[in-house]
Amino acid sequence: MNQIPAALGLTGEQVADLLTTAGRAPSLHNTQPWSFRVLPHVVELHADPERRLPVVDPEDRELRIGCGAALFTLRLALAAHDIRPTITLLPDATRPDLVAEVRHGGTKPATPEQRRLLRAVPLRRTNRHPFTDVAVTRSEQYALRRAAADEGAWLHVVQDPEQRAAIQRLAVRAHREQVADPAFLAELRRWTATGPGRTDGVPATSGGPQPAPQDRWVLRDFSGGGAPERVPGKDFEHEPLIAVLTSHLSGPRAEVQAGQALQRVLLAAAADGLSASFLSQIVEVGGPRNELRRLIGGTRPPQVVMRIGRGYPVVATPRRPVADLVAPAPSPTA
Ligand SMILES: Cc1cc2nc3c(=O)[nH]c(=O)nc-3n(C[C@H](O)[C@H](O)[C@H](O)COP(=O)(O)O)c2cc1C
Repeated sequence: MNQIPAALGLTGEQVADLLTTAGRAPSLHNTQPWSFRVLPHVVELHADPERRLPVVDPEDRELRIGCGAALFTLRLALAAHDIRPTITLLPDATRPDLVAEVRHGGTKPATPEQRRLLRAVPLRRTNRHPFTDVAVTRSEQYALRRAAADEGAWLHVVQDPEQRAAIQRLAVRAHREQVADPAFLAELRRWTATGPGRTDGVPATSGGPQPAPQDRWVLRDFSGGGAPERVPGKDFEHEPLIAVLTSHLSGPRAEVQAGQALQRVLLAAAADGLSASFLSQIVEVGGPRNELRRLIGGTRPPQVVMRIGRGYPVVATPRRPVADLVAPAPSPTA
């Protein structure tokens, strides 16, 4: 294994732990589209163009959201070392893949909340199975909205049954449009229902059961055609808690920020014993995305649509080994 260099006053081993933690972030199809360049005074987070999803995410919006989620997790891991990180987002317009530079910005003990969120990193998992019928309480919803706001985003919790029904129709429409495209299906197959040897992609064991006719929400099929049997007697919730994460602005910087907010929301949920899954088709297909934006108020661009509730335990998805996450440092003569 490559030696991970020391950085930011931490040993190589500590940096390896940091990057392993950051690499537990969620990403569309578990592409883990990030790499890190470790220099003595800066850790650079890069988007990995080899891990793009050109069909479903042609503008790299979700790729940057995934990188933002990894960045938030890295910030938490640094906080646990009493390091207050200084972050520069997208510092170089000529290198758009350089998502962030992370530097040592002084010493500050981690807050209890940061420690709580960090403990939730290995517990957080996308859960595509039916949730229990115990509702997410108002105070839990408030905590999730607060988590988004603390990272400069806004979580719109859908309370109105008519709005929820309209979003459900948008999900069906977007799903139909996506699965009618052979290129979409080919890309999905490359990254999902993956075999046991893969360290990326979504294994079939992480896919949920296919919704039955009485279930009104459509979920993406990760089974590669062999959808798991339905759990007898347990339908998907008819009225799941649907939440839309929106950013104040649009563009690459807003997307990285939305990714940081997403991970904060997901970790706050996991720390409270809540699970989440995604309905990204609605924001991936142009027509439904614009309609969703209008539906929830028209100003902020919707970035992520989630279903949140109380789930049963699910297996973890694989991750690449830390040595694979580290990009080589430039040679001194370069
Ligand atoms: C921006 C974004 C969009 C996602 N969209 C979907 C989706 O539409 N359907 C889905 O089942 N999972 C979706 N996911 C979840 C990923 O598949 C999941 O994060 C990845 O497989 C890693 O698994 P984990 O979250 O359990 O660690 C999305 C994740 C991100 C960050």
